[in-house]
Amino acid sequence: MKKKKADYTHLSANQPIGIFDSGVGGLTVAKEIKRLLPNEDLIYFGDTKHLPYGEKSREAIVGYSTKITNFLIEQNCKAIVIACNTATANALQEVQELVADRVPVIDVINPVAEKVSYEIHNNVGVIATKATVNSGLYKKSIRKHNKFIKVDELATPLLVPAIEEGFKNHPITHSIIYNYLSNSKLKNIETLILGCTHYPLLIDEIKQYYGNRVRVIDSPNIVANQLKMILDKHHLLNEENHQSTYQFFLSDITKNFEKISKKFFGKSIDLELKVL
Ligand code: DGL
Repeated sequence: MKKKKADYTHLSANQPIGIFDSGVGGLTVAKEIKRLLPNEDLIYFGDTKHLPYGEKSREAIVGYSTKITNFLIEQNCKAIVIACNTATANALQEVQELVADRVPVIDVINPVAEKVSYEIHNNVGVIATKATVNSGLYKKSIRKHNKFIKVDELATPLLVPAIEEGFKNHPITHSIIYNYLSNSKLKNIETLILGCTHYPLLIDEIKQYYGNRVRVIDSPNIVANQLKMILDKHHLLNEENHQSTYQFFLSDITKNFEKISKKFFGKSIDLELKVL
């Protein structure tokens, strides 16, 4: 399909930023965006009814991602952040074809792969959902910039359900982490990418496993900086010092989402049920 030329001149800086994920994972990105861009209004969609995306077919992930993107555009968003590696790996092209000529689309894999490929010169491991690992997008994306980096990807599907269940600092999670990270595929890595936006919620436990042996990449920070750079380039950064608003839509309201979103965004936020 012929790519339409992007035109963002109709957008204005005071419109909100749309962010989505299958569940609580994207909150790690949203929190970093809030920290780096405190004047921005945010609209978050968590597709809790359909998680885990990592176990779904490509067709299903494309369907969910495009519906959510349309919804965020209807909410007048000036940019879309796909705060989900699985949606990026399986539906980035479809989301871009749908809206990238009207609003910037920021994903969570390409900026991380690009930064890593310039800064790191050793063996990189990626842990992610099955649907992300099967796409091979991390390896492709890193090696597009630096073909000398060795990239080993491992699917770690039990982590998302454990996180969505709220099993942080829990023996179950510790044994899942130990089992996955001791896999021989990751034996020689010196850098680890958390290739799922849920995983930063367990970053302390993951770092504890490695001690200082392995550098763990802070993906939400890289993504938030990429968003800032793109908004700035198109004169869409909200410079107005005001009380920013944070809106949350969920396809199923869960206790764990409520707990984490309130921890990151304050007790006064409301969660709205929205089934697409
Ligand atoms: N947080 C997501 C990701 O970055 C999706 C996890 C899932 O729903 O399986 O891949």
